[in-house]
Amino acid sequence: MTQVDYSSLIPNNVDLSSDLRLKRALEAWYPKYVEWWKTMGPVGFQDSEVYLRTAIGVDSEGWAKFGFVKMPEYRWGILLSPQEEDRRIGFGQHLGEPVWQEVPGEYRAMLRRLIVIQGDTEPASVEQQRFLGQTAPSLYDMRNLFQVNVEEGRHLWAMVYLLQKYFGRDGREEAEDLLKRTSGSADKPRILGAFNEATPDWLSFFMFTTFTDRDGKMQLESLAQSGFDPLARTTRFMLTEEGHHMFVGRTGVERVIQRTCQILKENGISDPHDIQKVRSHGGIDLPTIQKKINFHYSVTLDLFGAEISTNAANSFNASLKGRFRELKIDDDHRLESSTYPVARPIDGRVQIEDMPALSAINARLCDDYIADCENVLKRWNHVFATTGIDFALTLPHRAFHRAVGEFAGVEANPQGELISETEWNDRQTEWLPDDSDLQFILSLMQQTTEPGKYANWIAAPRAGINGQPGDFEYVKVAA
Ligand SMILES: [Fe+2]
Ligand SMILES: [Fe+2]
Repeated sequence: MTQVDYSSLIPNNVDLSSDLRLKRALEAWYPKYVEWWKTMGPVGFQDSEVYLRTAIGVDSEGWAKFGFVKMPEYRWGILLSPQEEDRRIGFGQHLGEPVWQEVPGEYRAMLRRLIVIQGDTEPASVEQQRFLGQTAPSLYDMRNLFQVNVEEGRHLWAMVYLLQKYFGRDGREEAEDLLKRTSGSADKPRILGAFNEATPDWLSFFMFTTFTDRDGKMQLESLAQSGFDPLARTTRFMLTEEGHHMFVGRTGVERVIQRTCQILKENGISDPHDIQKVRSHGGIDLPTIQKKINFHYSVTLDLFGAEISTNAANSFNASLKGRFRELKIDDDHRLESSTYPVARPIDGRVQIEDMPALSAINARLCDDYIADCENVLKRWNHVFATTGIDFALTLPHRAFHRAVGEFAGVEANPQGELISETEWNDRQTEWLPDDSDLQFILSLMQQTTEPGKYANWIAAPRAGINGQPGDFEYVKVAA
């Protein structure tokens, strides 16, 4: 089963050649997918040779190989983590029962919805990032962008496989629709808000891969607990690739911070808040980096859905979607009588209230996500410690700039104090990037394609991809 068949059009370890109905459905979908990739995927570079990793197996050792490939010829495969023998459901009403290999009839609609929502985010991010190749700060970064893009494409394949194999005709229709919706479209937008925001510049891309791909990780971790075994195995393998996306984001921002600290020191700028001086040397000032964090983090928190959610309770109860690292949590995994502390706006301030744990599944996932983000901020702040710059980046409070959930109806400052709408309107550009900030960032975005060279606003990475040397030509642009 874990043997990967690379001889067929669609590489897979799901024995596709013995399921002719499914094979035909996927082969019919394939040209439509490639057409989508060429029209909605990366602009330009479709004929360039790119140094990419391709998943070729599902063992933790040696699951990927590196080599030059033209993106439209990338081998998007269907790969599931190995089946665990005698796996049992770990939570919800069906706790302890054997996992399902077929869709349980009573949960069909709920399960399809979960798969479609996850599937929709994958092509959306490719669409959001399609122009970035043209302004890549180096070949190294350009390659990383394309790596993330082809893997999001593979994640779409993973969800389409589940839809086509397990959901018959409506699954096929959903698979078609995944290629019809478009990020930012007025009439057929992507399902979730953050996936309709533009990613116009590289700082946005690094923030997106830090914060929004990390939401992806949390969702995949929860789906990897699923009682529906094919979904659990699919998402578990997707997580292997997700790690690199978050690496690209975290180290990307870190390199911007490093470069800015260098500019501060080299030019004897003693006040890190002196925006104009840093900008005059072509660096991205630290207050603007903070504003970008505030924006991307708050928009991503909205992706978790309402903290108190009947949908989340239902899919937990149905044993379809668990919690982050469900099996490591020390409780009854049913949550019928326990409570969970949830932050809510009460009497003009944020207060903690104990809510039924089952309804608070999303609140808990948010908490796990926030803890994960705190660790990223520590890494970024470490740069200040090592360069002796007196500055600290912070995550804004969860109540800040929210459009979904408990805090959707109130305004809050980054410290989490509830404020009036007037104060919000007066002060929001202190906390969120305004047009001039975004225009300034855009003005720095110019393509750098000389191997080993980096745009002025970002430091070189510590190491190459797959041990390649500093001047490695990751993308043969002129091909
Ligand atoms: Fe993904
Ligand atoms: Fe990702």
